[in-house]
Amino acid sequence: MLNAPKLQLPLPPDAPAPRARRGATQTFLTHAARSKAFHGFVNPPIYRGSTVLFESMDDLVHGRAEFTYGRKGNPSLRALEQAWSELAGAAGTILCGSGLAAITTALLSVARAGDHLLVADTVYGPVRELCDGLLERFGVEVSYFPPDPGETFGDYFRNNTAAVYLESPGSLTMEIQDVPGLASVAHEHGACVLMDNTWSTPLLFDAHGAGVDISIEAGTKYLGGASDLLLGVASANAAYWPMLQKTHNMLGCIAGPEDVFLALRGFRTLDLRIRESGRRALELAQWLRARPEVCSVLHPAFEQSPGHGYWKRDYHGASGLFSVVLEPFSQQDLARMLDGLSLFGMGYSWGGFESLITPIDHDLVRTASPWSHTGPTLRLYIGLEDVEDLKQDLADGFSRLTGNR
Ligand SMILES: Cc1ncc(COP(=O)(O)O)c(C=O)c1O
Repeated sequence: MLNAPKLQLPLPPDAPAPRARRGATQTFLTHAARSKAFHGFVNPPIYRGSTVLFESMDDLVHGRAEFTYGRKGNPSLRALEQAWSELAGAAGTILCGSGLAAITTALLSVARAGDHLLVADTVYGPVRELCDGLLERFGVEVSYFPPDPGETFGDYFRNNTAAVYLESPGSLTMEIQDVPGLASVAHEHGACVLMDNTWSTPLLFDAHGAGVDISIEAGTKYLGGASDLLLGVASANAAYWPMLQKTHNMLGCIAGPEDVFLALRGFRTLDLRIRESGRRALELAQWLRARPEVCSVLHPAFEQSPGHGYWKRDYHGASGLFSVVLEPFSQQDLARMLDGLSLFGMGYSWGGFESLITPIDHDLVRTASPWSHTGPTLRLYIGLEDVEDLKQDLADGFSRLTGNR
């Protein structure tokens, strides 16, 4: 590749495009990341490797080449980074080996010993473990706030609050947050705003446009789209991009080129898949709402779901993940229901083509906003199977659930 032409990807990472209409976004997803360097092949190839040979000592000493060492990036990674930056309206994007690695990198780029970090009570469980374990160990104070603190949000800030971490909707319990409102209060206090935007992707929620400084995505989910890769994506605005990039370099936690290649394939069809999974999920959520075994359906499109008003105001749709709270049933009843399902798989993650269901009560940790439901809670992810088949699978499951009553 010594004499290969320079990569000519659609836009440099420091020139974010304005938010486009949906059709333009679909066209962008389809055509992004093409380059003459790839000799007319539609998809950027997989570049593997550590060593990159320099043309001259001068280039090596001054680090003049576009790529200098495998850990610092290669054309496969750059293609997705640049495409994602443009989609997200960001100054730059890093790719890591998992969503959690991207979250860790982002948090380490903004927090230092002696700082205070404010974290939404409803974040993905391992983020809480990272905050209470690793970050506290390195001298960062962490406290939690309810997902919709309203007027009281300012009271949670301390003199040393450096960053606020949001996740909307909340993991497992699906509370939509007032992201623009919370971001504006955080900025008044001089704090950086980070957000996990995995549920929406930039297609359904414009995190940077709403005031988020660093937006994180588990590319493992919808971007990959086939449950066959692990990937983390974090994009930053111009103010926070230099530190995010530097921290990523210092940690050296890059993504593997095969996973990035697969993720770029997922990028092409992201809009179609997320909307179709969301459409099927909504139909199923409506059906579940009418079932006597169901106490409540936690889906942002439903008026009773927490933060529905923010969802209506700020979001461009709903993806395919939601939760249901059942009427009180025993663990044995629940196991009979779940163990006998034939289409819904029981397993972690989501965003693939297959539907999943997981009991979540044992994973629920809330310290700032008590969880008051008494029945078992299930998280459902709706993939691309026929909705009637999925309803039948659940209906059979409900018969097993209630069979012994
Ligand atoms: C909302 C959310 N964020 C982050 C992650 C972490 O992603 P990964 O499993 O790629 O580390 C997950 C994984 O389930 C998730 O659901």
